[in-house]
Amino acid sequence: MSKTVAVIGAGGYIGSVLVGRLLEAGYRIRALDRFFFGVGTLGRYAGHPALDLKTIDIRDLGARELEGCWGVLDLSGLSNDPAAEVDLQLTWEINEKGRVDLARSAQSAGVERYVFSGSCSVYGAGGDADLAEDSELNPLTAYAQAAAKAEEAIRAMNRPGFTTVALRNATVFGLSPRMRFDLVVNVMTLSAFERGQIVVTGGGRQRRPLVHVQDAARAFMCALEANADAVGGEVFNVGLANFRMIELSEAVRKAVPTPVQVQFAPGDADKRDYSVNFEKARKVLGFSACVDIPVGVREIHRALEAGQVERGLVTKTVAWYRHLIKMARVLDYGLVARTASLPVGEAAPLAARQAELQGTGRPSVAAAVRETAPGRALLSIVSMIGMLFGLETEYSEESLTLTDRASNLARTFETVMAVAA
Ligand SMILES: NC(=O)c1ccc[n+]([C@@H]2O[C@H](COP(=O)([O-])OP(=O)(O)OC[C@H]3O[C@@H](n4cnc5c(N)ncnc54)[C@H](O)[C@@H]3O)[C@@H](O)[C@H]2O)c1
Repeated sequence: MSKTVAVIGAGGYIGSVLVGRLLEAGYRIRALDRFFFGVGTLGRYAGHPALDLKTIDIRDLGARELEGCWGVLDLSGLSNDPAAEVDLQLTWEINEKGRVDLARSAQSAGVERYVFSGSCSVYGAGGDADLAEDSELNPLTAYAQAAAKAEEAIRAMNRPGFTTVALRNATVFGLSPRMRFDLVVNVMTLSAFERGQIVVTGGGRQRRPLVHVQDAARAFMCALEANADAVGGEVFNVGLANFRMIELSEAVRKAVPTPVQVQFAPGDADKRDYSVNFEKARKVLGFSACVDIPVGVREIHRALEAGQVERGLVTKTVAWYRHLIKMARVLDYGLVARTASLPVGEAAPLAARQAELQGTGRPSVAAAVRETAPGRALLSIVSMIGMLFGLETEYSEESLTLTDRASNLARTFETVMAVAA
């Protein structure tokens, strides 16, 4: 009898690739996700006899949903720095508390192997040294802080019979059924395709570790299958190599078959700059990444040329979450309104930061309209129409065609219906 593995965040950028690899390897999969990017990302496996799919929020997920699972791979959460800054309470509820509670539920359900998807972002601005797993952490953002805390708590849960492993992923690139055009190589490729131009901000000397999405998925399988004595309670950096932004822009320019100009612009909101060492994963996990940047660039470019990849709002993670949060407020489908409260001591700074992010919080006409059911219905219709004609999105690009906008709208409906159900 094959083992059952629950993949949380299964519909995501890495998750949707990983599910395919796990099915190929003969696992039975329980794909659990709030499916904020739609269930279509797993569409190619629809009807697969070994795939069981359920829409659920990790904040509602208990031991019952994980009973009968041998392993759990947690790839859920608000998945980048800006997305995690949008609503700090939500980030804490999902990325820290939600993910730690999930590991506790797995333990209660008798799960034997637990793999946590963490991030190299926990290193922040790391100086000149090659950062190894035992180097000091310097998480610069709410996303990185939540990742560091959840990772630490989950590693500490490791004990005989419940093996926990954490992976610190480099920034991922490459083609996935849930495409992300907010990741550096992917966004450079899209920009080269759409505008024949790549803009490098902040001087271009910032270093960043990278890994292809197929390699990242393979690292999860290694962590799932490795000897418990070797990996229990351990953390591993997962990546191919470290690149300066300027090197990435050159690699993309050369891999794209049409002429591309590289331009420099001052300033960069992203302060990360670090170089990471991947030796421990090679020695202990037996994992080495092998897919290089040009391979990822070319596969994305080919898919863009063939019109086989979405490039609308849903692929820009933070813009999409902002849009969903706005729709949630309009439609009141419970993305934001949860019962969890912050622990004493953390509430005050977060509330202050939240107020800073959201302005003064003065009541608006929209807020008053939203209070009534007909008002909510009206706002949602206006929102949808606005989105179709490009007035509504925070990411309104001239390059988005009416078809792209219609696809954004369809995705919004799909997600709203799934989340509201
Ligand atoms: N892609 C990267 O470059 C990268 C790098 C380092 C770490 N990571 C981490 O790896 C994991 C997967 O990243 P990804 O790129 O696939 O991100 P993604 O945004 O594509 O996928 C995350 C998935 O989690 C789901 N999700 C979010 N909140 C949820 C909730 N409350 N309940 C249930 N499901 C929820 C989303 O619907 C989505 O399908 C994340 O934890 C991310 O932080 C990613």
